[in-house]
Amino acid sequence: MFKNLFIIKSVDRIISESENSSQKLAKVLGPFDVTMIGIGAVIGAGIFAMVGEAAVKGGAGPSLVISFIITAIACGFAALCYAELASMVPISGSAYAYSYATMGELIAWIIGWDLIIEYAIGNVAVAISWAGYFNDFLYSVFGINVPIWLRTDYRTFVQKGLDLASVPHIFGIPVIFNFLAMVIVGLLTYLLVRGIKESASFNSFMVLLKIAILLLFIGIGFYYFNPQNWKPFAPGGWKGIHIGAATIFFAYIGFDAVSTVAEETKNPKRDMPIGIIGSLIICTIIYILVTMALTGMMPYENLKDKISEPLVAGLQYNGVGNWAVAIISFGAVISTTAVLLVFQMGQPRIFFSMSRDGLLPESFAKVHEKYKTPHVTTIWTGLFVGGLAAVSNIDEMANLCNIGTLFAFILVCAGVIVLRIKDPQRNRPFKVPGGMITPLLGAAFCFYLIMGLDKITLIRFGAWLFIGMLIYVFYGYKNSKLRSEV
Ligand code: ALA
Repeated sequence: MFKNLFIIKSVDRIISESENSSQKLAKVLGPFDVTMIGIGAVIGAGIFAMVGEAAVKGGAGPSLVISFIITAIACGFAALCYAELASMVPISGSAYAYSYATMGELIAWIIGWDLIIEYAIGNVAVAISWAGYFNDFLYSVFGINVPIWLRTDYRTFVQKGLDLASVPHIFGIPVIFNFLAMVIVGLLTYLLVRGIKESASFNSFMVLLKIAILLLFIGIGFYYFNPQNWKPFAPGGWKGIHIGAATIFFAYIGFDAVSTVAEETKNPKRDMPIGIIGSLIICTIIYILVTMALTGMMPYENLKDKISEPLVAGLQYNGVGNWAVAIISFGAVISTTAVLLVFQMGQPRIFFSMSRDGLLPESFAKVHEKYKTPHVTTIWTGLFVGGLAAVSNIDEMANLCNIGTLFAFILVCAGVIVLRIKDPQRNRPFKVPGGMITPLLGAAFCFYLIMGLDKITLIRFGAWLFIGMLIYVFYGYKNSKLRSEV
């Protein structure tokens, strides 16, 4: 019954289709924009919020610095693989397009479906974190406190032991939803429909600002550094470091989002490797310095009291003035906005590629007449992310995002190996050094990180893949353009 499940779309065909298609995106981005898109996607809720959880969860404490290095190595291997594929197949669609060219349609569908977890579900977590910090900022600067029932979901409200009687009711049902998270997603969706160039320059501005704010934190942290806080250095032993590495992976997610705008760069062969690897190196250095500063300026156990605002906890522990708290929460708002922007930009472009191939409805591949953006998928993504962010719990979403992304990285590493064997002669403007060893190590490291996540996350991920398979069987399999030709 299922014929040609692993049908392959050749690299030549992928490139020529994107070049000849009337459904074409404008080529306006240069290497600076692309690196900025990478950093914009990476530094966000991970370093501003999840670093506390990662330090405390398995008892990593100061040794979270090692966790960051392990995760950076895993991402580095994967980044090299992404760069090889993105420079060879410079079209929108990221890992989805590469796997179509290497491992066939079924795997491509699985990975496209999986990338929704990375981009859209990841953004649900970031939008929720944005809402929390935005309220902190409003409160620390203007004394305005948005009612809690407008900036959290029902389950988190109940888990915190808050009083249900204190919220408004409609027909006896308590009204609790994350209105703030919905607002930010709505605003960014509007901006993205208007055009990528405006959005990219807005992104570059936010990236420079957030780096400056993190450097300020690093400076303050080293000023208050107390060597006693680093004793013992690794309270949770290797296990703590492992759990820390799996959790903090969230902070690195995003550098691969650069590959989704490959089709919109002026010179993908040069811009892709620079953007992906450059953004990863810059972020790793900043993360390590922030973690050293944070764990040096306070005993890590004290982070428990303010787990979702660890940098603010460090400032308050040392009695640094309220001005610094206001600046850091402002930095968190800016950073998470930048992350949201890049992921909201990346997801529609993956849908766009899948639709162009017939695996999703054709209307998804429409390009806006005036703005030349994939507006239909941009709006769908906005509705999906904003809607889920209104009712979801941040930890669950972040963990799901971690596993989905690690799985995608494994498939990208595998894709490099497959293409090296099947198509060794093809010109590779950027080639992963170290032969087959590097992609193999990349896949192994990512698998090791998956093992550091909890079981319920694995189960949720399995369920997501199962739903994806049903959609493929009942829609994509029948409508695939490539298979209809054979
Ligand atoms: N790396 C992104 C963040 O930390 C997802 O917000």
